[in-house]
Amino acid sequence: MSVPVFAPWDDPDAKPLIQFNGVTKRFGDFTAIDTLSLNIYEREFFALLGPSGCGKTTMMRMLAGFESPTEGHILLGGEEIDTVPPNKRAVNMMFQSYALFPHLSIWDNIAFGLRREKKSKDEIATRVEEMLRLTRLEKFARRKPHQISGGQRQRVALARSLAKAPKLLLLDEPLGALDKKLRQETQFELMDIQESTGTTFVIVTHDQEEAMTVASRVAVMDEGRLVQVATPDVIYEAPNSVYVADFIGEVNLIPGKASARPDAPAAAPADTAPAAPIAEKPAETAPEPTKQERRAQPNEYGKWLHDKVLSPVLGARPEEQKALPAPSAEERTQANAPPAPVAAAADIPAGGLSIQWSADHPPIIASNGDAALHGADITLALRPEKLSIAKDRPEGAVNALQGKVIDIAYLGNISTYHVELAGGLMVKAQQANTRRLSRRAITWEDEVWVSFTTTAGVVLTT
Ligand SMILES: Nc1ncnc2c1ncn2[C@@H]1O[C@H](COP(=O)(O)OP(=O)(O)OP(=O)(O)O)[C@@H](O)[C@H]1O
Ligand SMILES: [Mg+2]
Repeated sequence: MSVPVFAPWDDPDAKPLIQFNGVTKRFGDFTAIDTLSLNIYEREFFALLGPSGCGKTTMMRMLAGFESPTEGHILLGGEEIDTVPPNKRAVNMMFQSYALFPHLSIWDNIAFGLRREKKSKDEIATRVEEMLRLTRLEKFARRKPHQISGGQRQRVALARSLAKAPKLLLLDEPLGALDKKLRQETQFELMDIQESTGTTFVIVTHDQEEAMTVASRVAVMDEGRLVQVATPDVIYEAPNSVYVADFIGEVNLIPGKASARPDAPAAAPADTAPAAPIAEKPAETAPEPTKQERRAQPNEYGKWLHDKVLSPVLGARPEEQKALPAPSAEERTQANAPPAPVAAAADIPAGGLSIQWSADHPPIIASNGDAALHGADITLALRPEKLSIAKDRPEGAVNALQGKVIDIAYLGNISTYHVELAGGLMVKAQQANTRRLSRRAITWEDEVWVSFTTTAGVVLTT
């Protein structure tokens, strides 16, 4: 059964639930949000990510109605809400400090907002029971907040924010107080709840892993602006800038100068590339010798054999002897090149960029780089898990850099090797620990090769 893809942001007909249209927010002469435009769609789980002070809470407070834009407009369901007070918006905000009422039971905490809305007793009871079920808190309904765990309290806060069935729920660091394991469990619960209620969630988090886990899309912010808004996999695999690549996950950033590669794979110069795998296609200067001209020619022994032994029997040579034609450029390159790994030709596609980045290493080939960047200063972003590490130069590897293991961070399931390359650049290579520790081959001070494919990196210009 195929699951329909949820991607309203790619649908030109989809109507956004939330629209920021050129929104600026100033506090005095300080600009907290800078002419920001953004659409968020119904049922999205949208995450705002960015360093402290970049304006995340300010965005949320404007959505909830606690602040209003200095310039521009915010629309909810197509209606301008700039002047709508917080309690009249179909928006609920769960604050980072979500203080529950200590003297009220869990049940009454959840019912609090509904009572203020003057709902009927039955209506309130039904809704509270529903929320308790949803957040798996039925057993704790009669307890007071101090009689349950931190994670359970967080779920109460969530149940309370969802009770009024808001169209939009804003969560500012909702899981900040939880330890890692509980946090992960609660993330999955949040996703379940979000899906089963169909509420649109906007979440602020400092934890990028959390954003990647829960969100349909992630916005990475910097100083009141959006740097990139995209699905988690795009943010991770195709960051649009060094800022985003560096902010999300671990990354090796290698600055260098790009030059466009010819359409045919070029040979690396013999002195810089120890295993130059590909011979350059020769320039089409002289026409290839024909088959007739390239026919086998006798050597001295052949001549003697012919003249002294065979000619008495076979008669004279029918034609003049010819000199062998000079080897073609292709033949010469092939003869001079070290034996090329067979697989390499297929591994190294034409085009892309060659990146000169160090006097101590051959250029890096990025076949996915844009040839239009010829001559530009660029940064190649390489995720550590895309680098392989080995004691010997892997056969057929196009990009292989030699270095020494300086440090190993053992994280149980994976290890990160810090490798100092000739010339001093440190890179991180990550490897899954599929073998037991005692059997692993690479250790501190080892001379190693880190290698990666020609599409492993992302070429960034900003
Ligand atoms: N009422 C205010 N008056 C003046 N400056 C403010 C006010 N509220 C926020 N700011 C400033 O606006 C900027 C953005 O603040 P905001 O609270 O939105 O940051 P944030 O991204 O939520 O940060 P954090 O991750 O630390 O919570 C900060 O530099 C902050 O000092
Ligand atoms: Mg904040």
